[in-house]
Amino acid sequence: MQKENRSAPKAAASRDGFTSSFGVLAATLGSAVGLGNIWKFPYLTGTNGGAGFLVVYVLATLLVGLPVMISEIMLGRKAKANAYTTMKTLAPAGQPWWIIAVMGVLSSFLIMAFYSEVAAWVFAYVFKAMGSSLLTNDPKVTSDAFGSLISNPFQSLLWQWIVLVSMGCILLMGVSKGIEAATKKLMPLLFLLLIIVGIRSLMLPGASEGLKFLFQPDFSKITAAVVLTAVGLAFFKLSIGMGCMMTYGSYFRADQNIPSTALRVMCADLFVSMLAGIAIFPAVFAFGFKPAAGPSLLFITIPAVFHSMPFGHFFMVVFFVLTAVASMGAMLSLLEVPIALLSERFKMSRPAATWTTMGVLALVGTTCALSNSTLSGFKLFGMTMFDLFDFATSNIMMPLGGIGLCLFVGWIWGFERFKTELTNHGMLKNEGVLHVVFWIARVVSPIAILVVMLKGLGFI
Ligand code: TRP
Repeated sequence: MQKENRSAPKAAASRDGFTSSFGVLAATLGSAVGLGNIWKFPYLTGTNGGAGFLVVYVLATLLVGLPVMISEIMLGRKAKANAYTTMKTLAPAGQPWWIIAVMGVLSSFLIMAFYSEVAAWVFAYVFKAMGSSLLTNDPKVTSDAFGSLISNPFQSLLWQWIVLVSMGCILLMGVSKGIEAATKKLMPLLFLLLIIVGIRSLMLPGASEGLKFLFQPDFSKITAAVVLTAVGLAFFKLSIGMGCMMTYGSYFRADQNIPSTALRVMCADLFVSMLAGIAIFPAVFAFGFKPAAGPSLLFITIPAVFHSMPFGHFFMVVFFVLTAVASMGAMLSLLEVPIALLSERFKMSRPAATWTTMGVLALVGTTCALSNSTLSGFKLFGMTMFDLFDFATSNIMMPLGGIGLCLFVGWIWGFERFKTELTNHGMLKNEGVLHVVFWIARVVSPIAILVVMLKGLGFI
């Protein structure tokens, strides 16, 4: 019982938080849905062989993603604090579980460094789309247009800074006002537009090849590395394993149904990814693009779909605007991890914490912004900084954080407190489900992640 008292910081009452139940869902969804769905999911599905990858990814989301997400939100709401303070106060004295949070802050910088650059491409594409250069379905033309953007160091940096400054301004407006307002209004529009684009793409001649690629599994392409990539994507997609959902959980209301919120976010997130896949792959095959094009896939394929539809020019601009907004919801949540830590633990004012974070990011982010131009020859472990940060966070750091969280919840926190928190002190009748989730988190997820990591990285 003593621990229970220790875990509620005194300042909790005055913390900014989400004001309504729908706001909680929208903001959490705003964190999950982003470039991960629209850019990363399609390109990884393309480079990893299509439907087989999708099956593994869905399994990873269910078996690893959901339990970790529920656990993370639960811990954050319990402690009502940044990730570091949460782990420090909830863990028994002297045990170093806070390492998960420290690694999480590091991850948040590394992810933001490349994520802000992809967002930079999207911002730039909003303006490119307004002109006429993207009105074509010629793979060569769209590839060249993308190539000329990313190989131009000045443009790459400029757009990244525009992204970072915009994010700084939104963050200064505070949690409930800034994040909630933006995500609540624009997410539904993005869903709608993706459905329209998806339908158009499905009607293209030759679309069925794309559907086959996306839905007819060929498991011969599934290697250990592919499985690790799918698990990494599950972490990246659900914003888990590094304290992000924990930080958002700290803004959750006491009466919020955490398991059901997590499940809904997971389903909606998967749905958006599928829509993005359905918008892109039929077009890939219809117009002769390459499914394994890699990170450029979205940027070179999607203009072709818009080019072939009525009012396509207008819709293309709207599409990139909404994608930019989605990326901002995700970045807000990523940035909240270091900012909450700096302002609460190191007693910085929120503006000071925000600008410090942005300043560091402008520096670290430069290495990613220039990865396709000036610094393209600068490699560690055979990867540019852009690729390295992406690989290290999704395939190593977040899965490790996930193992840590599962072990903490399963073996230290225990089922009794797990149940108390997730039934909202007996208000919800979901105990049966909680048993299952708890045992997955306690045994199945950590072993699965560990084996996948060791095999995927070539250790066993
Ligand atoms: N999930 C977001 C996306 O798919 C990205 C993101 C937001 C994220 N917060 C995160 C990824 C925390 C990892 C960790 O675009």
